[in-house]
Amino acid sequence: MKYRITLFLSAFSLLLQAQTPVYLDPSKGIEDRVEDALSRMTLAEKIDVIHAQSKFSSAGVKRLGFPDFWTDDGPHGVRPDVLWDEWEQAGQTNDSCVAFPALTCLAATWHPQLSSLYGRALGEEALYRGKGMILGPGVNIYRTPLGGRNFEYMGEDPYLTSRMVIPYVQGLQSCGVASCVKHYCLNNDEEYRHQVNVIISDRALHEIYLPGFEAAVKEGKAWGIMGAYNLYKDEHNCHNQYTLNKILKQDWGFDGVVVSDWGGAHDLDQAVRNGLDMEFGTWTDGLTMGATNAYDNYYLSKGYQKAILEGRYTTKELDEKVRRVLRLFFRTTMNRQRPYGFLCSEEHYVTARLVAGEGIVLLQNDRNVLPIQPKGKKILVVGENAIKMMTVGGGSSSLKAQHEISPLQGLQERLKASDCQIEFARGYVGDVGGSYNGVTTGQDLKDDRSPEELINEAVEKAKTADYVVIFGGLNKSDYQDCEGHDRKTMDLPYNQDKLITALASVNKQTIYVNISGNAVSMPWRKQVPAIVQGWFLGSEAGIGLADVLLGKTNPSGHLPFTWYENLSQVGAHSFGEAAFPGIWREGKKIIDEEYKEGIYVGYRWTDMKKLKPAFAFGHGLSYTTFKVSNLRSDFDETTDGNMTFKVDVTNTGDCTGADVVQLYISDVKCSVDRPVKELKAFRKVMLKPGETKTITLSTDKRALSFWDEATGGWKAEPGEFIAWAGDSSDHLTCKMKFTLK
Ligand code: BGC
Repeated sequence: MKYRITLFLSAFSLLLQAQTPVYLDPSKGIEDRVEDALSRMTLAEKIDVIHAQSKFSSAGVKRLGFPDFWTDDGPHGVRPDVLWDEWEQAGQTNDSCVAFPALTCLAATWHPQLSSLYGRALGEEALYRGKGMILGPGVNIYRTPLGGRNFEYMGEDPYLTSRMVIPYVQGLQSCGVASCVKHYCLNNDEEYRHQVNVIISDRALHEIYLPGFEAAVKEGKAWGIMGAYNLYKDEHNCHNQYTLNKILKQDWGFDGVVVSDWGGAHDLDQAVRNGLDMEFGTWTDGLTMGATNAYDNYYLSKGYQKAILEGRYTTKELDEKVRRVLRLFFRTTMNRQRPYGFLCSEEHYVTARLVAGEGIVLLQNDRNVLPIQPKGKKILVVGENAIKMMTVGGGSSSLKAQHEISPLQGLQERLKASDCQIEFARGYVGDVGGSYNGVTTGQDLKDDRSPEELINEAVEKAKTADYVVIFGGLNKSDYQDCEGHDRKTMDLPYNQDKLITALASVNKQTIYVNISGNAVSMPWRKQVPAIVQGWFLGSEAGIGLADVLLGKTNPSGHLPFTWYENLSQVGAHSFGEAAFPGIWREGKKIIDEEYKEGIYVGYRWTDMKKLKPAFAFGHGLSYTTFKVSNLRSDFDETTDGNMTFKVDVTNTGDCTGADVVQLYISDVKCSVDRPVKELKAFRKVMLKPGETKTITLSTDKRALSFWDEATGGWKAEPGEFIAWAGDSSDHLTCKMKFTLK
């Protein structure tokens, strides 16, 4: 009897095994599952998974149980659904999200753990909304303050960007939602982004523009990369032999999918051979002319299938693409271990508030005008940006937020129980529109008064106010912080310089809060005692800002980019139009833009030229003060390039606060030109008044290396180096020498 039962059980389990194909068996390794699924797919099924079937989705494999694959923007929240094949709203009632602060703000926190929380929260929102991939984060380098999409990126420094992108990717992917790190690479212009061909030295490419992507791939283990619109070496970056096949896939060992930016593919042969895996958004003739199924006209669609059937290609490239797509499926939609999704949960709002609170940068605070002491006071709030919703606009990162608290509402909310009086004056009229792809803010900001009338009203009110808080800056309209165009100037738009100067001349307690993702010129900087960089902060903007202005949050954000006085201090703008915005070739199809400043971007440029920017990279004040001292190491020489430094940081003021300790390294003597110093480690640390903490900062050989163009690799030359520590690139209070043997 016992024997018979055992026999029955083994037969049953054999049957089960026979019935469970390898690709559906979670106990099997992912590569076995990929190969098994691949072997079962027809040519048509393979073709279907490598191109879009709607604006944001591609097909799964129905017959084999792979669901359709849904992507969505990114990177600051999960974008509301548009129609299957139109950019208008699908009209869902369940796609309002939490809008997280823009990535510039996240970078300004200098707090990698917050980046991880951010990624996780976004991943949970994406999961709830049924998305397998978020189109973000963006890690293009801030080359010029005119860059229309800088607000979606993480600043000018490759090291800071690298450290901040890794946890974002890991947090997001811990939900089984792929990140699609963008826009790879050299997408530093919005104007003519489809035509710009970047000419750049190998050193600048590897030292400045690639490390963020490299870190996301090698350390973050990103499952997706988005090819950029522009060209490099005369090939579009969505199918580029050099950047995709060679650097990304061969050198870095990337095993995920390369997704084209929407409409970034231009050629069948290049799309087949040069590293593209999934084609989205292509503007083929079919699409513009409205064929019944425009998606059949994609390069990686019916045309490719036909070419294979006619023997123009073997299935070698196709199978390689499909393998990557299947790997993506097993990591996301076919992953049974995915956690639960949440949308608009309290934890997500807390994350948004935390990031906002830690990213806001106190740039200037003469006479300790901030924090505001509200008791019995009258506060005049001025400016369109105090009331304008900023989560709508800016291009593809535009959101439909469940709620957005404006700066004025934030102050009103936080001061509602106090005896302080808040008044508002418009001050200027910027862009009163408020809609993107059919999402409208519902705000009526129309005001027909002339600039003079608006300024006069604000000035009259300011005369009797105890504080004037101006919320100005940019917005997310065209030619501001917005996809599709770059800014035309670094100046503030809409007469704001005049308004700010007028207000500061009648009220000594004037505070200017700049809302933007870019630096703006501030010719009135010396007349305005307090200046705060307030970014685009998403759903909880008003609360984040009010808490900093009122001292409930002690500011601890530090600039992720150099805040130049004006464009004459910017490397990219120092070589004429050849370096920015480039020169059209004959025929006007390609515009060559040569990054003549090379590796000298941001503080690397101002250091070399001995220029004093308005605010340096890494700068950020607090309501307390700090002392960074006593940089030391157990050894002052290294043979393998690894160094461990210790440094003390003391809170020398009278309230609790956090400082960002930054470590820079200079190569004293080298066979090639090196920047004066480069950021190589940092740590944010919270301290009570009087408290001292010793922190440890480690660096490795890469921190001492430059990209050697002769060998095509990283090289550290033996000799003397200097390590500097402090809390801003222009405030380095201690240093030590060491030697690489
Ligand atoms: C943008 C991408 C975005 C895509 C999909 C493109 O225009 O450049 O960043 O992810 O659209 O919306």
